[in-house]
Amino acid sequence: MPITSSDYRLFGRTGVKVSPLTLGCMMFGRRTELEDSVRIIDRALDAGINVLDTSNSYSRGVSEQFTGEALKRNGKRDRVFLASKVHFPMDDADPNAQGVSRRHIVAQAEASLKRLQTDHLDLYQIHRPHPEVAIDETLRALDDLVRAGKVRYIGTTTFAGWQVVEALWASEKLHLNRFVSEQPPYNLLDRRIERELIPVARTYGLAVIPWSPLGGGLLTGKYQRDTAAPAGSRYADPGPVQAKRFTKTSFDVIEPLNALAAEKGVPLSQLALAWVARRPGITSPIIGPRTLDQLEDALRALDVTFTAEDLRRIDEIIPPGAHVAPFYEADHGPSLHRW
Ligand SMILES: NC(=O)c1ccc[n+]([C@@H]2O[C@H](COP(=O)([O-])OP(=O)(O)OC[C@H]3O[C@@H](n4cnc5c(N)ncnc54)[C@H](OP(=O)(O)O)[C@@H]3O)[C@@H](O)[C@H]2O)c1
Repeated sequence: MPITSSDYRLFGRTGVKVSPLTLGCMMFGRRTELEDSVRIIDRALDAGINVLDTSNSYSRGVSEQFTGEALKRNGKRDRVFLASKVHFPMDDADPNAQGVSRRHIVAQAEASLKRLQTDHLDLYQIHRPHPEVAIDETLRALDDLVRAGKVRYIGTTTFAGWQVVEALWASEKLHLNRFVSEQPPYNLLDRRIERELIPVARTYGLAVIPWSPLGGGLLTGKYQRDTAAPAGSRYADPGPVQAKRFTKTSFDVIEPLNALAAEKGVPLSQLALAWVARRPGITSPIIGPRTLDQLEDALRALDVTFTAEDLRRIDEIIPPGAHVAPFYEADHGPSLHRW
């Protein structure tokens, strides 16, 4: 079913209407070449997706370059709600080429605009909370970018509920533009944001655009317990990331979900994405297709519906607020007990 006008929803308490899926651009320039990236972006826009999510850090600017090139070629920049991010290191030799200082935020906003070949970002997100930098320094820099017309809205990603509330409180006190969205990890292997972040977002009117709705591909059915990952897949290289995800507890969740998907006659990838998209408080999950076929699969997820019995079974497999540990690299250092 194509995305129709009634499927667009407000982006939090802003007046902007967004599609029920967001196209994540993280693979572009990393595992997807330019021409395929352009084809995926064109197809997504044709299908009605109107939000693109990239970051300065995705392949150190290459994802933004590919995204900008695609929008230049198709001439559809003005129809897109274009989101990027700042925080992760851009130059290993420079201790200031990272983080959320005013200096780095302003420099990277200018660099992102150049790479994306545009004069403004629709959404500029702080990629991670940064305990060393006071939130008011970050908020004042972002507010200046909004007032200068370079950024329309500001958001966060992978913040704890209390960090979002602290930022909203600081914005109100200092009369600055406030965050309008949060981008957290959320999928059928990690439901922790249901405990506090989603209630925070619903209370204060933030849009929630979850990343990794398929757990990076684990929730597609292509990975099997005690079996080598398929060649060319994201987790094909054995290493610390794979070891954290390929655990007994992951497969104890994946296998019964796979059985439920088979009973419903849909691939696990569609069931998993549809579940995130239909959860209360979720605005628009961010899909991360590496290929055009994966994008087509994601679009078909919009047709998947759930009975009350399906949802009860899912809650039995992975209860509300639960997660399979250890899972995310986001869970480190000061962020360890974020949720
Ligand atoms: N804010 C943050 O910190 C953060 C972090 C991560 C991502 N993100 C954003 O969220 C977006 C999505 O994240 P993600 O890529 O991790 O999402 P995801 O949906 O969990 O994983 C996508 C990956 O799953 C595999 N896949 C997708 N559809 C498939 C299918 N039908 N059959 C088999 N495999 C399939 C592909 O990997 P392979 O085919 O290569 O195996 C694909 O790249 C990113 O593009 C980015 O914009 C944000």
